[in-house]
Amino acid sequence: MTAASGGAALCLAVSVSSFAGGGPDIEAGASLAAKLCARCHAIGATGTSPHEAAPPFHTFAQKWPLENLEEALAEGIVVGHPAMPVFELSTDEIDDLIGYLGTLQ
Ligand code: HEC
Repeated sequence: MTAASGGAALCLAVSVSSFAGGGPDIEAGASLAAKLCARCHAIGATGTSPHEAAPPFHTFAQKWPLENLEEALAEGIVVGHPAMPVFELSTDEIDDLIGYLGTLQ
């Protein structure tokens, strides 16, 4: 194996391991959303939110790229309003949640 291909293999290993389990688990994301977010946000592909100020999840990607949301969630989503609690999610949970959101748009 040449030095160059060794380097490429290493890169691949690192990027794969950051998505433990090989990508988002959409179902886990959906159940996280149901558990943590559904009492305020509409978490389905249609509908209005129980909390009138909370934007429905299916409108999120119109407002921001979902990658931005991933960053915001990783930092413990800072939305600057008292109605929404701060969540501490693991990176896996965030991947799952974003993966789920991606299916709604
Ligand atoms: C207790 C109610 C409540 C819960 C639970 C809740 N939210 Fe919210 N969320 C809100 C409200 C209210 C807003 C709108 C705030 C505003 O625009 O001032 C909001 C706004 C947001 C926004 C938009 C922020 C922005 O800058 O406009 C995102 C993204 C979001 N919520 C994600 C989530 C996620 C993901 C969860 C579950 C992990 C969640 N929320 C759970 C009440 C809630």
